[in-house]
Amino acid sequence: MKILVVLCHPREESLTAQVANSFIKGAISNGNEVELVDLYKENFNPVLNIKDEPNDGNLLNYSQEVQFEFNRLNNNEAVVMIFPLWWWSMPAMLKGWVDRVWNYGLTYGEASHNIKKGLLISLAAHTQKELEKRDYYNAIDTSLNVGIFDYNKIDERELLILGGTDLGDDHCAKHIELAYKKGCSF
Ligand SMILES: Cc1cc2nc3c(=O)[nH]c(=O)nc-3n(C[C@H](O)[C@H](O)[C@H](O)COP(=O)(O)O)c2cc1C
Repeated sequence: MKILVVLCHPREESLTAQVANSFIKGAISNGNEVELVDLYKENFNPVLNIKDEPNDGNLLNYSQEVQFEFNRLNNNEAVVMIFPLWWWSMPAMLKGWVDRVWNYGLTYGEASHNIKKGLLISLAAHTQKELEKRDYYNAIDTSLNVGIFDYNKIDERELLILGGTDLGDDHCAKHIELAYKKGCSF
């Protein structure tokens, strides 16, 4: 399977980046083809301007940047977004990528795209128990997993929140290992 991995973190050695690298290693070991988009490294502009407001659905009527990003997305069969949980959602950089690229006529509306499978991996300081206490998992699942993937007719989809990121190296090593296994079974 051809997988687009979208990494969103400002720091190269972040746990988020390590989880992304581990997922990629696992996915490649299982025969998948992986393309990485590092939004910060590429200095992606997340601000949606007039040119990228939903138009008649014709790709050529969106900005050059959105045309490039959509073609890159659509050249794959699966998308995996890997990001730290910031204010119970995705960072603005990644949100802007979704705002601009997952656009009318491209991924929804009168659209036929190639993405069959989606996975969201989010790193959170809150532990699993703390996330459950306030029902954050279900809230985030509804807004991001259902809200983006289901809305864009991607039936095979999953949200994975890796919690307790400030509990130390041993705990974080388990997240890196789990990401590798996720890649292997993707
Ligand atoms: C702006 C900002 C907002 C954050 N919001 C949350 C949050 O809503 N829930 C949470 O559990 N952790 C939150 N955190 C903590 C991050 O999730 C944590 O720093 C991250 O999981 C650590 O991984 P990293 O080293 O790859 O950044 C926030 C951190 C920042 C910088």
